[in-house]
Amino acid sequence: MSSDTQFNDAPGGAEATAGRAMAFVILAAGKGTRMRSSLPKVLHPVAGRSMLGHSLALAEQLGAARCVVVAGHEAEAVEAAARAHRPAPSGLSLALQSPQLGTAHAVMQARAALADFEGDVFVLYADTPLIQVATIQRLRAELSAGAAAAVLGFEAADPGAYGRLILGGDGALERIVEFKDASEAERAVSFCNSGVMAADGARLWGWLDRIGNDNAKGEFYLTDLVALARGDGARVAAVSVDEAEVMGANDRAGLAALEAAFQARARAEAMLSGVTLTAPETVFFSYDTKIAADVTVEPNVVFGPGVAVESGAQIRAFSHLEGARVAPGAVVGPYARLRPGAEIGEGARIGNFVEVKNAAFAAGAKANHLAYIGDAAVGAGANLGAGTITCNYDGFAKHRTEIGEGAFIGSNSALVAPVSIGAGAIVGAGSTVTEPVEAEALALARGRQTAFPGRARRLRDMLAQKAAERRSKE
Ligand code: UD1
Ligand code: MG
Repeated sequence: MSSDTQFNDAPGGAEATAGRAMAFVILAAGKGTRMRSSLPKVLHPVAGRSMLGHSLALAEQLGAARCVVVAGHEAEAVEAAARAHRPAPSGLSLALQSPQLGTAHAVMQARAALADFEGDVFVLYADTPLIQVATIQRLRAELSAGAAAAVLGFEAADPGAYGRLILGGDGALERIVEFKDASEAERAVSFCNSGVMAADGARLWGWLDRIGNDNAKGEFYLTDLVALARGDGARVAAVSVDEAEVMGANDRAGLAALEAAFQARARAEAMLSGVTLTAPETVFFSYDTKIAADVTVEPNVVFGPGVAVESGAQIRAFSHLEGARVAPGAVVGPYARLRPGAEIGEGARIGNFVEVKNAAFAAGAKANHLAYIGDAAVGAGANLGAGTITCNYDGFAKHRTEIGEGAFIGSNSALVAPVSIGAGAIVGAGSTVTEPVEAEALALARGRQTAFPGRARRLRDMLAQKAAERRSKE
C-alpha cells in the first residue's frame, strides 16, 4: 500500500501545491540488461504496479505541475505505459535520450519540455519505486529554506559502488564522488547517493551545461552538479533517508527484494491503522489496497489491485481478491476468489471455493460453498446453494443473471443466462434454469424421479448370477 492509501498521511492535492511549483524528471532510459527481460526494467511490477507507475504516482500525489519521463531503451513501450498511467500527473511529457551518456545528459533531455517552467525540479529514477511523499517534501523544504539543490542520501549497509556524499564541516554537501573515481578515504564513506536530487529550476540548466565527462566512466554525471553549485557559493543540502526506501532493482532478485520491502511496509501500515493480520508475513497487498480498521485478514490472503475492504469485514484464509469491494460485516472465504466487479454487501457471505466476478451480493446474501457467480445481481438475503453456477458465457457474449431478494437456489443448479429469478422464489436442487422464474414461484427443472420397489435386489441378484457363470467357465 503506497502513499495513496489511507495508511499514509499523503499530503497530495492543494497542500502539496502550496509554495513553488514542482516539476519531476523521471529517468527511465537505462537498459536494465540484468533483468534478462523483453519487458523494459521500469515496467516490471512491484505490488501490482510498474516501477515507473510508482514514480508517476509519487509526482501526481505531490501535485507536480510538470512531469517529464526520459526514455531511451524500449522508449515506445515506456511512453505507452506513462501515457496510460492513472491518475495522470499533470503536464506529462516524454523526452528521448539516445544514446545514453549519463545521468546529467539524461536530465538535459528534459530541458526543452521545461523551458518555460518556473519552480523546483526533482529528479527521480524510475527503478526506485518505494520513495514516499513525505521524503520528497523534506527535499522541498530544504529548497524553500534557501538551498539551491538538495540530494537524498542514505547510510548504506554495504556502500558498494554507490556515489559517496562528501559533507563539509557545516554539514552541508560539498560534492558527490562516484565510486570509480573515489580515493580509498572517500570509499570509506558510507553516506551514499540515492540518485534523487532536487534543484532550483532557475539555476539547474546552467549547472548541467557545465558538467563534462572527464571521469572514470566517460559519462556526464548528474552528481557533479553539487560541486559546481558549491563553487558558485550556493548551499546544497543532504537529506538522509532509510536505505529501504531508496532500494532499486537491477535483476529479478532485486525485484523480489523490492516486493518484499513493499509488503513489509504495507503490513506494518495496515496493522498500525487497526487491521488484524493473523500471520502478516503471508498476506500480500497491492499498491492501492484499502482496508479499514477492524477488518481481520487471516493467513495466506492475496490482494490484487483495486480492492477495498470496509470496517468489520473478515477475509478468511487462502482467499484471492482483485477489483472487489467488501462491505462491513461481510465474510469472505476461506478459499474464496473475488474477481473484478465483485461487490459483497453488508453481512453477506462468500464461502469456500466460491468465485464471484462482476456480481453484486446485496446485504446478507450468501453463497457458502462451491459456486460460480458471474455477471449477476443477487438480492438481499438470497441463498445460493452449493454448486450454483451462473452460465454467463455462451462462447460469444456474456449474459446477466438477476436473483431477487430472499430467493433460494437449490444445490447444483445451473442458471443459464440471461435469466431472472424473482424475489422469494425457490429453485429446486439440480435444476437447469433457462426460463425466468416468477417471484414466490417454485421452479423445478430436472428429470422427475421414478423408483421401482424391490427392483434393486432383483438387479443385484441377476448381476451376481452372471458373474458366477463367467467364473465357472474360466
Ligand atoms: C547513480 C549515481 C550514484 C548513485 C546511484 C544510486 C550518477 C553519476 N551516479 O549511479 O551516485 O549512488 O545512481 O543508484 O548519477 N539513466 C538514464 N540515462 C543515462 C544513464 C542513466 O536514464 O544515460 C538512468 C538509469 O536508467 C537509472 C538511473 O538513471 O534509472 C541511474 O543510472 P545508473 O547507470 O544505474 O547509475 P549508477 O552508476 O548506478
Ligand atoms: Mg544503478
